[in-house]
Amino acid sequence: MSDVAYFDALYQNEDPFAYRTRWYEARKRALTLASLPHAHYLRAWELGCSNGVLTAALAPRCAQLLATDISEEAVVAARRTLAGQPHVTVERAQHPQAWPDGRFDLIVVSEVGYYLDASDMQAMAARLVGSLDPQGVLVACHWRPSFAQARCSTDFVHAQLDALLPRVFSWSDADMVLQGWSRDLRSVAQREGLR
Ligand SMILES: C[S@@+](CC[C@H](N)C(=O)[O-])C[C@H]1O[C@@H](n2cnc3c(N)ncnc32)[C@H](O)[C@@H]1O
Repeated sequence: MSDVAYFDALYQNEDPFAYRTRWYEARKRALTLASLPHAHYLRAWELGCSNGVLTAALAPRCAQLLATDISEEAVVAARRTLAGQPHVTVERAQHPQAWPDGRFDLIVVSEVGYYLDASDMQAMAARLVGSLDPQGVLVACHWRPSFAQARCSTDFVHAQLDALLPRVFSWSDADMVLQGWSRDLRSVAQREGLR
């Protein structure tokens, strides 16, 4: 089964990962939002947006937000979730083969890297770095246990980004790892003039 067919079949259930109901997912979103070094972003991108629950949480922090997903079914669900928010655009795209133009000051790669095989993930890491503003932040968050559909490991995904950009924060527990990378090494306090 192709990736598109697999995910389209999964989205016959509108919320296959239970983003709307699981405390695990709500906590993970809260950690992701709290980790972002800036309060506001001008042009942000979330890859693999699923039904748009994380996208909706990111939206108030972004002047423009692009959300992409390989599955047309997910795109339809995300557009429904984001209806009435004209600063959010949802597009179907398979990464890294398809890629948006321009640069972003926030890129969120949450629970998507391990669906790519190692060579696509390596290619995607290089493209992500090329799409990041000089002062932008790239955030990745992934589930740590292995699972049947994963084509590469969480450690591999995060190592590809570690190899290309300085890491500016890291959180991990037994279930997940959440990390951020930026060429701008100022801390949050330094960015706000606290020190
Ligand atoms: C587990 S969901 C992540 C949802 C959201 N980012 C979050 O963390 O709450 C992963 C999504 O990535 C999408 N996806 C998988 N491979 C992809 C690819 N190569 N390009 C774009 N989207 C992809 C799937 O369709 C699925 O909706």
